[in-house]
Amino acid sequence: MHFTANPRRTRLAVAELAPDTLGRTDAAGFPDTFGAPSAAVPVRDPFAWVAEIAELTQPDEVVWCDGSAEEKQRLIDQMVAAGTLLKLNEEKRPGSYLARSDPSDVARVESRTFICSEREVDAGPTNNWCAPAEMRSELDEVFAGSMKGRTMYVVPFSMGPVGGPLSQVGIEITDSPYVVVSMHVMTRVSSEVLDLIEGGQQWVPAVHSVGAPLADGDQDVAWPCNETKYIVHYPEAREIWSYGSGYGGNALLGKKCFALRIASAMARDEGWLAEHMLLIRITSPEQRQYHLAAAFPSACGKTNLAMLQPTVPGWTVETIGDDIVWMRPGPDGTLRAINPEAGFFGVAPGTGVETNPTAIETLTHDVIFTNVALTDDGDVWWEGLTPEPPEHLVDWRGDDWTPTDGEAGRPAAHPNSRFTVAAAQCPSIADVWEDPAGVPVDAIVFGGRRATNVPLVAQATSWEHGVFMGATISSERTAAAEGAVGELRRDPFAMLPFCGYNMADHWSHWLEVGAGLDSEKRPKIFQVNWFRKDADGKFIWPGFGENSRVVKWIAEQIDRSRGVRTDAGAVPSAVGLLPAPGALDVDGLDVSDSDLEALFDVPAEAWLAEAELTSEFFDTFGDRMPAALRDQLARLGDRLR
Ligand code: GTP
Ligand code: SPV
Ligand code: MN
Repeated sequence: MHFTANPRRTRLAVAELAPDTLGRTDAAGFPDTFGAPSAAVPVRDPFAWVAEIAELTQPDEVVWCDGSAEEKQRLIDQMVAAGTLLKLNEEKRPGSYLARSDPSDVARVESRTFICSEREVDAGPTNNWCAPAEMRSELDEVFAGSMKGRTMYVVPFSMGPVGGPLSQVGIEITDSPYVVVSMHVMTRVSSEVLDLIEGGQQWVPAVHSVGAPLADGDQDVAWPCNETKYIVHYPEAREIWSYGSGYGGNALLGKKCFALRIASAMARDEGWLAEHMLLIRITSPEQRQYHLAAAFPSACGKTNLAMLQPTVPGWTVETIGDDIVWMRPGPDGTLRAINPEAGFFGVAPGTGVETNPTAIETLTHDVIFTNVALTDDGDVWWEGLTPEPPEHLVDWRGDDWTPTDGEAGRPAAHPNSRFTVAAAQCPSIADVWEDPAGVPVDAIVFGGRRATNVPLVAQATSWEHGVFMGATISSERTAAAEGAVGELRRDPFAMLPFCGYNMADHWSHWLEVGAGLDSEKRPKIFQVNWFRKDADGKFIWPGFGENSRVVKWIAEQIDRSRGVRTDAGAVPSAVGLLPAPGALDVDGLDVSDSDLEALFDVPAEAWLAEAELTSEFFDTFGDRMPAALRDQLARLGDRLR
């Protein structure tokens, strides 16, 4: 076995690092100690850990990554030579590549995702659980020799600006160069992270193997993976082990595994929040600014709202994040939020000039596409990119495709095909997007894909009511994970697949965090639904840019709560405050009055039936269920009756 030199330059304690070296700002007055290991979590020596994993997985070589542009290009060139990446037409799509995964490895595998807390009740009824000792011995066997014939990459990365008061660090070990290159885009890969770790900062070890060892003389395949998959989290030990998949949230361990599942457990212990949310800055015609964080389930419009181009005159929206938000009560009583990621891993299908022109502009260069279709001139295509498909394509599996195939129900791009691109190249990115101290959150929005019942927008009447709204989100399933697309399922806080501890404890934690915020500065909570359908199964609301009308109402409701506006903005309903007549700006919008009425219809009988199911759902949490939400459910029933 050959070990390349470890690229550490200096050994500094966190306290010795000058604030400006790290871009740390004291703007929000966060204490310097934030990010220090909590007493219960084992402190690990990263070098001993790497040696231990190499001993177990038996790679041919160990390479320490530094996040440099040279390193990224070297790995890309290597993958082009190996057939893992296909270089796209340099004129049409400079610096861009296409990866085709194994057809069996196209989405997150929720059925193989485990939260291995010491006690089953701490994982809760919505997670797969296995006793840590049992899982550890199972994984020891699975990982033994799993990297034979491959290179093991050691990737130190930061979620959030390196050294920032709301940031966290980790090291991912992987035998996939595709993962390393994706981590370069999606996180901050840097050897400075090793300095922080050596200075005593808490860090998350994350081991990833595609589970496809090579014997001497074996020919590798373009997308190695294993039929058997494990996505395992030890929340108490703050540790991640992933096996068998090279795709997205299964393999880029900084994303769902760390920034949501492990981070949510850290956040519970340390008094902050890790959520499946987008984050935007809204500016009104009067130049007032608002920050909005919104939780929608996978493939339900976070990237679209994050890159919103308002159709209402005078309003602008800037992007801060499109998938994950970390929030922490600041010393000034506000809830401060950062996007811990550095890139977008966005859904390609449905992204077009009409629906998301900002994304289209973001994707003009330096993109890694996965499982989209290839055009005859070496560019990419997916359903929804243009109204008419090209006459001929090579589909996501590498087979010939014509529009006739599309008509027969065989899409050219996989429904969960994605782009990986740096956030910095998004034209609507806010100048504050990398502020280590985050932005103050004014509004929190919950949403889902609901053909019926749920109104276009409603405001919670209190923090408790808002937490109830989040806890009772249901949504039709999408292609982002394996399972039946379209099936309605509960997805509380859009965190069903991502909460690293008992979901009911998550709700209690939200109630507690809210209670600790300054009541004047506490964000207002809303619920939205862009997906309501008419009797013919057509979306009633035009969506996309027109969602700015809802955003505007939300901002104006915040103004009203602060006394900046005194007009009547809302009227009560059984499910929350709805826009008062005339308060939702529909100027120039092509939606009939009867459709508008349908968008805000709250059918009492259907809601009572849903409340009954909510009660059964709450029962599954037993005594972990917070009484405040039971109380909210009872009050909802009273209002409906
Ligand atoms: P993940 O990355 O999987 O967490 O999801 P996301 O929430 O970022 O998904 P994204 O924004 O990429 O959602 C894409 C899907 O939502 C596409 O099918 C879009 O067409 C659809 N979508 C987004 N906004 C709207 C809208 O306003 N109306 C309608 N009808 N569809 C929308
Ligand atoms: C999601 O499924 O919510 C995603 C994509 O954002 S993945 O990173 O693959 O989980
Ligand atoms: Mn997501």
